Amino acid sequence: MSDNQKTKMIVDKDLTLAQVSDDLYGSFIEHLGRAVYGGIYQPGHPAADKDGYRTDVLNLVRELKVPIVRYPGGNFVSGYQWEDGIGPKEKRKARLDLAWRTLETNQFGLDEFAAWAQKADTDVLMAINLGTRGIQDALNILEYCNLDTNTYWAGLRRKNGHEKPYGIKHWCLGNEMDGPWQTGHKTAQEYGRLAAETAKAMKTLDPSVKLVSCGSSSVDMPTFPDWEAITLGEDYDYVDYISLHTYYGNNENDTDDFLAKTQDMDRFIHTVISVCDYIKAQKRSRKTMMLSFDEWNVWFHSNQSDNKYMEEHPWTVAPHLLEDHYTYEDAILVGLMLITLIKHADRVKIACLAQLVNVIAPIMTEENGPAWRQTIFYPFLHASLYGRGTALQPVVSGGKHDTKNHEDVTDIDSVAVYNEERNEVTVFAVNRTDYAVDFEADVRSFEGYKVREYLALEGCDLKAVNSAESEAVAPVTRTDYQMDKGIFQTQTKPYSWNVIRFGL
Ligand code: AHR
Repeated sequence: MSDNQKTKMIVDKDLTLAQVSDDLYGSFIEHLGRAVYGGIYQPGHPAADKDGYRTDVLNLVRELKVPIVRYPGGNFVSGYQWEDGIGPKEKRKARLDLAWRTLETNQFGLDEFAAWAQKADTDVLMAINLGTRGIQDALNILEYCNLDTNTYWAGLRRKNGHEKPYGIKHWCLGNEMDGPWQTGHKTAQEYGRLAAETAKAMKTLDPSVKLVSCGSSSVDMPTFPDWEAITLGEDYDYVDYISLHTYYGNNENDTDDFLAKTQDMDRFIHTVISVCDYIKAQKRSRKTMMLSFDEWNVWFHSNQSDNKYMEEHPWTVAPHLLEDHYTYEDAILVGLMLITLIKHADRVKIACLAQLVNVIAPIMTEENGPAWRQTIFYPFLHASLYGRGTALQPVVSGGKHDTKNHEDVTDIDSVAVYNEERNEVTVFAVNRTDYAVDFEADVRSFEGYKVREYLALEGCDLKAVNSAESEAVAPVTRTDYQMDKGIFQTQTKPYSWNVIRFGL
């Protein structure tokens, strides 16, 4: 790799791509490990409120301004009987969760989650069980959550102390039903038919709901992209989104190749869009299918030890599972993943960082101590705070390099979002090389704009992690840039996340 590379970006007000959906900055809480028990809910903890919700966690979730949280799974949902988690706590049944070989006490259920979501100032993206269950159950939970009729399930919600319906708008029709590991795994034909009939029935009961059909659980599934074509062939007319899931890891300890993986994410999104549009054409439909990237993150640190733990210690309560401790380089990849999502803001309308607390999460908790921010907290925070508005077409030219499994990888990946209300345009740029790269942003179309703030994650050891005691990886404010007649120039540090906010 060479020195003195330069990347130039034109940030033009008129080159709009799409409105960024607020729900692009969603997240996910599954009944898995310590996400719920010991995560968002821990009665008796010094920071818990009177209902048992950890307020230290709530504060960090609010800081991230998460607009929507998927719940209750994940693989967990495919064997979940949601009625076990409602009503008087002393009468709730404990169950075995096959997905994570865990004992589920059901002391926390959908009413508790709805109350938590309200405190966290977020919406719920509710997933239903299409693994071991079907249409009738979907109707029951929908009636419980959203109807105000004098009927059994709506009445039961009222009896349980929740007078007003929750009005949950977004629903996932199952989870990763293409995966053989899924309880009640289905073929594409089986799932497509079930999803279509479930969606029709749900929309008859509550026409306001928006439904997510299960796409492939990863781009590497042998059934991808036939799964998308076959399932949408059945349910296209009745659903509003198709899901995508992706996790990346640096198992080979090859940072440059790891940071090139968003090329794969980009191709994944392009392919799913192509399949959606093919089915649209085939059906002569006027509807454009949107994408719900409802699981994405880095996930690999904990894999081996988790498998061993689940094998050797099945059926424990809230075990330490999927507790990846994220490094500095993981945060850089998360930044790149966010840029990739924003670049597809025209079609990706929901995305969920998987997950939110303790389980492959930006927020961690100590059982007898505080909640703290992982390295990946920061790029997500910046994108959620400053990435709302109109995504602009990225017009970027600069150096490229090859990595072990990727060619023509841009040295800097970047995107800009214009927020008219705040009179602000923010450039997100990642230098994914081991050399400094000069970066120029031409913002002349934004007359009179100056740099409001230049934040960066930079200069850390690639394997640095945060902990409850110390934050090795945290944003710094940069002042070493030039801004002259609408041209911004700086030198980005090797392996860095850069957030440049311009405003009047
Ligand atoms: O987020 C962890 C797991 O990853 C989810 O339960 C599942 O949907 C995916 O495979």
